[in-house]
Amino acid sequence: MGSFHGETIGRRLPGARLVAVADPAPGAAEKLATHLGADRHYEDAADVWTDPEVDGVVIAAPARFHTELIVAAARAGKHVFCEKPMALTIADADRAIDACRATGVTLQIGFNRRFAADWAAARALLEPARTGPPGSGQPRPGSPVGTPRLLRSLTRDPGGFDPARVAPGTIFLETLIHDFDTLRFLNPGAQAVDVFAVADALVEPAWRDRGLLDTAVVTVRFDNGAIGTAEACFEASYGYDVRAEVLGSGGMVAMGDGRRTGMTFAGAGGRVVETARGDQELFAAAYTAELAAFAESIRTGAEPTVTGEDARAALEIALAAAESVRTGRPVRVETVAKCG
Ligand SMILES: NC(=O)c1ccc[n+]([C@@H]2O[C@H](COP(=O)([O-])OP(=O)(O)OC[C@H]3O[C@@H](n4cnc5c(N)ncnc54)[C@H](O)[C@@H]3O)[C@@H](O)[C@H]2O)c1
Repeated sequence: MGSFHGETIGRRLPGARLVAVADPAPGAAEKLATHLGADRHYEDAADVWTDPEVDGVVIAAPARFHTELIVAAARAGKHVFCEKPMALTIADADRAIDACRATGVTLQIGFNRRFAADWAAARALLEPARTGPPGSGQPRPGSPVGTPRLLRSLTRDPGGFDPARVAPGTIFLETLIHDFDTLRFLNPGAQAVDVFAVADALVEPAWRDRGLLDTAVVTVRFDNGAIGTAEACFEASYGYDVRAEVLGSGGMVAMGDGRRTGMTFAGAGGRVVETARGDQELFAAAYTAELAAFAESIRTGAEPTVTGEDARAALEIALAAAESVRTGRPVRVETVAKCG
């Protein structure tokens, strides 16, 4: 992910410059920096903190390092974009948020789906806006979708993962955390109340006894009454598939169709569409748009559109889901929010 973000900053973002790449893996930073024409490369991220030409950092190290890297970057006065999850515990989420607040740096988290065209358009439709549906030019008092009743967000990865490298809780903390954020994004202003999750190792059943969870369904009840479901599976034979839907009192809005392009081939066997095979293929524009928004926040001082508080709220749902699988019962989000 860091390579793709580096490429975005170096090649796809006018107005931003890739100053340095840091990676402790021997030779990795040098290789990427040389490839992208960055000025400097470091094996110790601490060298980035003292680099006077660096205004902001993009953190794409493995999740367990995120909090310490955010805190160190904030103390050095660098603006922070961090990949999800921002932290693995609520205490660490608070530490990251507090460190950024204390030094006044921007903190944006990598919930890229908010920047994907379908998702951004759906959210615009869900706002009680003053203008009508796109193109109508008519004022409207509320969202045409009406009061949200059912929300749905799903992630299906293309498979090919090594079960030995999947840390416990990955399906909730690294995959479904996108869907938890999406459910919140599509239910503006509502708070998650309780969470019930069912999960199993259906792709790699031989790893079930070692605690692998590769398939899950999570039900989230919100304080405005809406019921959300988030589902994930680490293997879909047809590629990378991310979709979402909101059913409200006035209508339904759906996002994503998993298609790689708009092309359809019709032949003797029927109609065939191409499906996306990976996240960077499906969400290339969204990954670029989120970093463009980060650069804009640095330039203008405007609050980022995906905050540390958003990441904390999604983490609460993820931790509640993991707890629900452990106990087999629904979990109140407030119990996790206080001590998770
Ligand atoms: N938003 C998305 O759709 C999306 C997609 C993929 C990955 N991610 C997230 O990106 C992060 C990285 O995932 P990945 O799949 O690229 O992992 P990865 O293991 O492939 O790469 C991580 C890189 O970070 C380096 N690293 C380790 N410790 C570091 C440190 N202290 N400072 C700097 N670099 C360090 C490693 O050497 C490695 O090169 C994870 O948090 C993951 O959840 C997000």
